[in-house]
Amino acid sequence: MAKGRTAAVVLAAGLGTRMKSATPKVLHPVAGRPMIGHLMAALNDLGAERTVVVVSPGMPEVGDYVAPARIAIQDPPLGTGHAVLAAREVLGDFDGDVLVLFGDTPLLTIETMRGMVAARRDAADPAVVVLGFRPADPAEYGRLVAGEDGGLDAIVEFRDADAAQRGIGLCNAGIMAIDGRRLFALLDEVGNGNAKGEYYLTDIVAIARAKGWSCAVVETADPDEVMGVNSRAGLAEAEAAMQRRLRAHHMDEGVTLTDPATVYFNWDTAIGRDVTIGPNVVFGANVSIAADVEIRAFCHIDGARIASGAIVGPFARLRPGADIGPDVHIGNFVEIKESTLEAGAKANHLSYIGDSRVGAGANIGAGTITCNYDGYFKSRTDIGAGAFIGSNTALVAPVTVGAGAIIGAGSVVAKDVAADALAVTRAEHVERPGLALTYRARKQAAKDAARGKSKKAG
Ligand code: UD1
Ligand code: MG
Repeated sequence: MAKGRTAAVVLAAGLGTRMKSATPKVLHPVAGRPMIGHLMAALNDLGAERTVVVVSPGMPEVGDYVAPARIAIQDPPLGTGHAVLAAREVLGDFDGDVLVLFGDTPLLTIETMRGMVAARRDAADPAVVVLGFRPADPAEYGRLVAGEDGGLDAIVEFRDADAAQRGIGLCNAGIMAIDGRRLFALLDEVGNGNAKGEYYLTDIVAIARAKGWSCAVVETADPDEVMGVNSRAGLAEAEAAMQRRLRAHHMDEGVTLTDPATVYFNWDTAIGRDVTIGPNVVFGANVSIAADVEIRAFCHIDGARIASGAIVGPFARLRPGADIGPDVHIGNFVEIKESTLEAGAKANHLSYIGDSRVGAGANIGAGTITCNYDGYFKSRTDIGAGAFIGSNTALVAPVTVGAGAIIGAGSVVAKDVAADALAVTRAEHVERPGLALTYRARKQAAKDAARGKSKKAG
């Protein structure tokens, strides 16, 4: 028996019409990654040496996405057995084990894939290992018909099943591990004389049995794992299941989630130990958080790196390129984009910081805005260590504020400020004693005169 070699066929030629989308179904994201991407990553970790993705014509985006995996075109789609046949050119000579997966089943775990391959390599040398599950409602799934020896005798599609077979609770999840040396011989015997007139992959079990080869079932206890996405509602269910899994994973790894059900992770969110995440926090792609960070409620964090000891939020927005240094504080209604905040810097209230460096220990006052865009070009702002930017300052980039400088509140800073200088640009304070009284008296008299006139007219 060829030990240790695995290849995979991922079926994705279904048109996914119920998604009502211009995007092929398998490219719709779950936890920020296309459904098929979850499978491709697992296959890569598994060490699959060849992977073929079976698509329909007119889905070039799928081929681009899964490259360097090979693509096989199935035209027209005549059933799951016919789809696997399309992989013959790439896998016809493969003598290891072939995993067949459905591209719209993003929650399948690598542990289950490993279990399937291990069962295929069992001493009994089964030709086909099928993933079984017991859904609460078996609905229209194919039923797994057990043999007297405890193995698998056949898979009967719902439409072709009799009443007794429909009563079987163990269903076909669709995933199989097949001996590559026997796969195409089995497929060559699959016909289409069934209720749907399709070439069913599931028929290979009965064909193998007729040849005297054994077949086996691996059962998953987690029906979420084999959830197939067919519609937007199904996509939302898969997202919810994936989020439950990610929340559990992060808590297992030492992250406190005050209200787990309200925190949304991306598949690649990386979080250190003893991080606390408050309610209603959303993570986009490519976020990494070091140990001992606190993310307070209602933050949206995307493409950011956060160093240890930082406090972010509540209500903060970190956008791609936000590099938050150790012990930095980012407070409410602060937006940071493509900017580095060095150790201990603070921006606690109502600010926009874009295309900037904020030096260690600098303090950004409430309402400070970096004016980084002139309608045509983006420019940088550089704020030195220990600088103090007064509230409601506009920093018109490109501009540099030297280390230790102080900017008076309400300034519009369009010229560089030297280190340790104090710069203020607001207009001079003018005060005329008692003028408010004179002003009110004059205005009131004018108003009374106008009223008197309109009464006479009426
Ligand atoms: C299939 C199984 C059924 C199982 C169920 C689990 C068969 C015959 N039936 O039924 O036993 O319980 O999955 O979800 O296999 N595809 C192609 N080309 C085709 C047809 C399908 O690539 O010609 C792809 C689809 O894109 C999809 C997968 O194969 O990813 C499954 O096809 P689908 O039509 O959903 O099969 P089911 O009828 O659900
Ligand atoms: Mg299906």
